[in-house]
Amino acid sequence: MSKTLRSAIVIGAGTMGAQIAAHLANAGVAVHLLDVDAATAAAGWKRALALKPDPLFTPTHATMVRTGAIDEGDFGGADWIIEAIVERLEPKRALFERIDRQRGETTIVSSNTSGLPLASLVEGRTEDFARHFVGTHFFNPPRYMPLVEIIPVEATSADTVARVRHWLDVRLGRSVVVAKDSPNFIANHIGLHGLFTVLQAWETGPFDIDTIDALTGPVIGRPKSATFRTIDITGLDVATQVARNFVERTSDPELHRLFTVGPRIAGMLERQWIGEKAGQGFFKREKGPGGTSEILVLDPATWTYVPRVPVQRPVLDALRDQRGGAAGRIKALMLGTSAESAFTRATLGETLLYTARVWQHIARDIDDVDRAMRWGFGWELGPFEIIDAIGIQAFAAAMRDDGRLGEPALPNGLAGGRDTMRVPGSFRADPVELLVLAGARDRQQVVESNGAASVLDTGDGIFAVELHSKMNTIGGDTLAMLQAGIARAEREGVGLIVATQGQAFSAGANLMLVLMEAQDGEWESIDAMVRAFQRTVLSLRDAQVPVITAINGLTLGGATEMSLHASAVQAAAETYMGLVEVGVGLIPAGCGTKEMLWRASQQRPSKHADALPFVQKAFETMGFGVVSTSAPHARALGFLRHGDGISMHRTRLHADARELVQARAAGYVPGRAPTAIPVGGPDMRAALTLGVHLAHRAGRIGDHDATIGRKLAWVLAGGDVPHATEVTESYVLDLEREAFLSLCGEPKTQARIAHTLKTGKTLRN
Ligand code: NAI
Repeated sequence: MSKTLRSAIVIGAGTMGAQIAAHLANAGVAVHLLDVDAATAAAGWKRALALKPDPLFTPTHATMVRTGAIDEGDFGGADWIIEAIVERLEPKRALFERIDRQRGETTIVSSNTSGLPLASLVEGRTEDFARHFVGTHFFNPPRYMPLVEIIPVEATSADTVARVRHWLDVRLGRSVVVAKDSPNFIANHIGLHGLFTVLQAWETGPFDIDTIDALTGPVIGRPKSATFRTIDITGLDVATQVARNFVERTSDPELHRLFTVGPRIAGMLERQWIGEKAGQGFFKREKGPGGTSEILVLDPATWTYVPRVPVQRPVLDALRDQRGGAAGRIKALMLGTSAESAFTRATLGETLLYTARVWQHIARDIDDVDRAMRWGFGWELGPFEIIDAIGIQAFAAAMRDDGRLGEPALPNGLAGGRDTMRVPGSFRADPVELLVLAGARDRQQVVESNGAASVLDTGDGIFAVELHSKMNTIGGDTLAMLQAGIARAEREGVGLIVATQGQAFSAGANLMLVLMEAQDGEWESIDAMVRAFQRTVLSLRDAQVPVITAINGLTLGGATEMSLHASAVQAAAETYMGLVEVGVGLIPAGCGTKEMLWRASQQRPSKHADALPFVQKAFETMGFGVVSTSAPHARALGFLRHGDGISMHRTRLHADARELVQARAAGYVPGRAPTAIPVGGPDMRAALTLGVHLAHRAGRIGDHDATIGRKLAWVLAGGDVPHATEVTESYVLDLEREAFLSLCGEPKTQARIAHTLKTGKTLRN
């Protein structure tokens, strides 16, 4: 049976349907987005297009989506029909009855319901419909939340599950977990339990909102928005409604007690203080004089919003030095004697016990429970990973001491005297065969290493340089490992990938040293650093074997320059790429300006055509420090070439990069330096600086930005050549360095670098 996905129909152009349609478009799938009538569908789609963060990779992707009335749907022709209409049984059943009559022989039908029993949705349908039916529970926002739960009904065929899983994983880049058809499936079930234990602790316990957020955020491996900021974003009304729906479907008295809201939450609901969409919830942003704004926090005793007091607790300070990452901190908290520890046991501890008790009803194995919580709620560790990190016996003893666990009490798998659920260190959320870097480390294939990067042997003659410094900034150590990796791959292998296991490929060159040398006036030393950077970047291109950068997340400045010179790039769809040097008062001088100039000249339709529009575009891209919002956008900006690959799923990125190396390795011809780069001379410089002048006069850019803009224009025009001519690569690289060095001498540039190093933000001085 064909696994291709060419066309899809999404029914229901609301919050979820419209965004799911957008993400299908991102994946190159033609979508018909339907609603009760054409106007409603069009309006829903328009609303989605205005959302931030953007559900679409680029505005052009919108052309993949047509909207229409449900009566216009060609249910027979679609590969996949996704139902995302109102969360009510009857309308959904009526819709499926209609689809049952009209669907094609192989059409798969799925429902995005978050709480209705899927079995009841297929009741009365034909056997063939049921075989092709499955739940696909996306999370909001679907482009950015990786988890999709697949929920088969009894009749769903294995082939249907396999096809949908493949589409979701490979085409849409989602992280899939198969769940049982139980109320709220896995992630929302456990997540809701966790949330309500915290709400109850707030109602009755000693801690205020800010302290609880401090105890339920990154300290225990959760997102920064922790508990209350998360609710303010999703809406207290939504959270309590989902809880009510859940309670209706369970007879567990413990859950009925847990999900009964206390007087504080009831008071907030009564006042409609339900979060951001109401302008206030647990927090409220208050505008002050002169455009400033302050975030206030709810004081439930007086029902007013009061200034926040920084959370200062010795227990939290001590945890900062705790070894073992989130696992170590959770263990210390869970087993401690402080009030904060008692709070953690009353909340997270209870949820862990509850999960251990119910998991068999909601998931096929404990791995899927851990995966669902990682991917759906951004937990760094799933519940069973946490239990294992603490140790079953120690955890049980601590809960017993609090009277939270009777005898005999250890639920299910926790009993039996074991101390962990799994062999320690054995759990991997993702398929092991896709974890190229971690796999090489598991097999102890680290060839060479320093504090910034390591050379790994990933097998089959493919070596990898793994970046692993803070934000993977690129300094001398990184360059050394890149050189070592290239040498090794040339000597013994067939190719090299440059990659990271982190969330960001790299924030760019490490500017700490540049700043220090600039402050000391050590220009020769800066010149040597930039030369070394340029040399290494060029060696990626000139290597005798293909060198592929496998990029994901932030890929800025020097990291973009590396990618511009790799044999090819494999980019995760979520790649944020840009030459942002202007933000730190500099210009790209690691071959980036040169390469953008060269590529611009190559885009001319003929050798005699005017290069200005193309150079102008490169100039603006660098001058405004434009960062791509996705890999396809990076392609539109000229950072990625047509032969460069895009992986929809971040987890597949490194395996895809390895395949790209293999495809290029046989008969590989190294890249070559362009010998004749056309430059426009004074005319080009005049045209580019006119833009700078106009932008400056209109107040769109500041004094220093204008200075940097003029330097950039000077390099892109070929420096002091008397007229349009052709120059060599090394000539342009000299110009890059010259401009870079002169900017390093500017106090405003030094101030920008210092500010960025300190705050991670850019200073517009
Ligand atoms: P919504 O209320 O934003 O949108 C529903 C859309 O369906 C509306 O545009 C409505 O006009 C349309 N509709 C209603 N009846 C219809 C019918 N018979 N035929 C065609 N269109 C019809 O709802 P939302 O939030 O997008 O939810 C849709 C589904 O996704 C629900 O089953 C919900 O439980 C589920 N879900 C929602 C999530 C969320 O965060 N909002 C997350 C995960 C799942």
